[in-house]
Amino acid sequence: MALTDELGALREETLAAIARAGDSAALEQVRIGVLGKSGTLTGYLRSMGSVPKEERAAVGKTANEVRVAVEGALEARKAELASAELAAKIDASAVDVTLPGRAQQMGTRHLISGIIDEISEIFLGIGYTVATGPEVETDYYNFEALNAPADHPSRGLADTFYVRDLSGDVAAVKGESDVLLRTQTSGVQVHAMEQQKPPIYVIAPGKVYRRDVADPSHLPQFTQIEGLVVDKGITFGDLKGTLDYFCKQLFGPERKTRVRAHYFPFTEPSAEVDVSCGICNGEGCRFCKGTGWLEILGCGMVDPNVFGYVDIDPDEYSGFAFGMGVERAACLKYNVPDLRMLLEGDMRFLRQF
Ligand code: DAH
Repeated sequence: MALTDELGALREETLAAIARAGDSAALEQVRIGVLGKSGTLTGYLRSMGSVPKEERAAVGKTANEVRVAVEGALEARKAELASAELAAKIDASAVDVTLPGRAQQMGTRHLISGIIDEISEIFLGIGYTVATGPEVETDYYNFEALNAPADHPSRGLADTFYVRDLSGDVAAVKGESDVLLRTQTSGVQVHAMEQQKPPIYVIAPGKVYRRDVADPSHLPQFTQIEGLVVDKGITFGDLKGTLDYFCKQLFGPERKTRVRAHYFPFTEPSAEVDVSCGICNGEGCRFCKGTGWLEILGCGMVDPNVFGYVDIDPDEYSGFAFGMGVERAACLKYNVPDLRMLLEGDMRFLRQF
């Protein structure tokens, strides 16, 4: 076959291959096969020197024409494929603006956080400030400086989570570890009296931990709010007046309070405060177990022994303290029968508050 015919055939073959190339990568393979370093057409152009003189002009011209035609076809196909590929890409990532939107769920403040703020606001309004202390606490702050005797049952393994020293492999048991998860916020009283001079008017909200199995009235982790007042001439009357004011602010002005004698190691005398049941108005019902009253907090006059641990002179100063369970207060305010409902995360329940 004459060289010009060979070139003609190559041209047809190449143009067909270009038309067949389905994507840019396939097209590039065709280009390399024809015009690349060892491409077929490149071979013809390189071997022009060995073409007999009389044919050279014609063959050269044809080869050139083939090159121009192939290059043109490559360009055209390349543009075609690029726009098809772009269109496919756009199609694949298309957003259907006619679809209805998905509504975002709006969260609400959790009831526990809400009540912490509500209680804090009541006390901030009468001049208290907020104090804090660590949740991982030492035996000293949680028990000892609060006048709890060494054999006090709450210090036992059955009631308190002791923290293991991770540097050793001995499981911490009482006696080997004096670090624990605080069982009450009362330890913040000791921190506050170490850090501030009287007059002291503080509340301390925070989490506490006990070895309890969750049931309607117990949780292994819950929140307490502690209160402490130390000043000159503070009496049990101040304690009663303050807590009665607090209960009426939190539960409503129609609620009554009563004070019952009780025992706590760090207060003397100690008491528990009850608020009249909001469901039966004190008549007696299932919620208040027929008594008409609901226990809301523990309190008392700061024991002089506690002042001894923080170098406050009990002849110069006196004070009162109180502590309440926040989850319990929330349940009493909203008549929720089971503490666990606060932690289940059921939006139908939580949205009501
Ligand atoms: N810490 C006590 C408890 O967890 C509650 C309490 C009682 C706190 C009397 C006080 C108080 O500050 O004076 O049961």
